[in-house]
Amino acid sequence: MDRESSTAVRHVVEVSQFDRPGIERLFEVADCMRDLPRQATPLAGFTLATIFYEPSTRTRLSFETAMHKLGGNVISTENAREFSSAIKGESVEDTVRIVGGYADAIVIRHHEQGSAHRAATVSTVPILNAGDGPGEHPSQALLDLYTIGHELGRIDGLRVALVGDLRFGRTARSLARLFRLTKDSELVFVSPPAVPMGDDVRAELDQSGVPYRDEPDLNAVLADVDVVYQTRVQKERFTTPGEYEAARGQYVIDETAMRRLNPGAILLHPLPRVDEIATDVDADPRAAYFRQAHNGVFVRMALLQHVLG
Ligand code: CP
Repeated sequence: MDRESSTAVRHVVEVSQFDRPGIERLFEVADCMRDLPRQATPLAGFTLATIFYEPSTRTRLSFETAMHKLGGNVISTENAREFSSAIKGESVEDTVRIVGGYADAIVIRHHEQGSAHRAATVSTVPILNAGDGPGEHPSQALLDLYTIGHELGRIDGLRVALVGDLRFGRTARSLARLFRLTKDSELVFVSPPAVPMGDDVRAELDQSGVPYRDEPDLNAVLADVDVVYQTRVQKERFTTPGEYEAARGQYVIDETAMRRLNPGAILLHPLPRVDEIATDVDADPRAAYFRQAHNGVFVRMALLQHVLG
């Protein structure tokens, strides 16, 4: 399915592991998972461990739901920074070595960029990166692209505005990277000056021939794009409250913005939101973020089936 599929252990650490046929197959499996009969238990007897050093609602619970729906078991530590032996000084590597003896796959979220890579280096069971600091969030990007395909009927030929914190927002970083697998797409980066898209992502897009541009005026793009991917300014990544205050509140999608938005476009957000999408917008049929979150279960079922099946 992906570039590491020939190895014995199938980790999902970054979106660069995937190729176009791989994501197409993954999305087909995700479609099938929507209708999986309740009595089907393809992962019966398998155990998934979820180790979260940072808070989560969607990623942890949807991975755990996905495993339960596939008939498997789940063991979990939801505040691993405090309630695992990390508090005693245990390294990620040692934790993963131990948990790999209890579980058949490990979903890990950690505050340090590169932590999932470190875990995969020593793990004897698949590692699924559920977010490594401001690095990557591959399962989120996969469900985001799946949602775009599901909502718009295509993943090619799209104009996509990535809005908000593109420096620390790992979901936007992973999604931008994933667009290298699409054709004729164009990205527009709409971000406060303090949190622009990183040069590492821009270099990958240059190499892949994906056009992108920066546009500080959100109103200038709303009528012309197919997807608006709004993101939260990642308060927890700033070193001072002043830096956060300087970056927050600059781009808000409200009813006025929705009147400007292309009638055929969709509005996505990886969630959680703070104030960057007004709740008045939720009833607009183009507001697809709750459907997007629901799709996470099916995409994560497909990912678990891929690494364990
Ligand atoms: N989108 C996302 O990663 O949400 P959680 O932080 O709730 O997992």
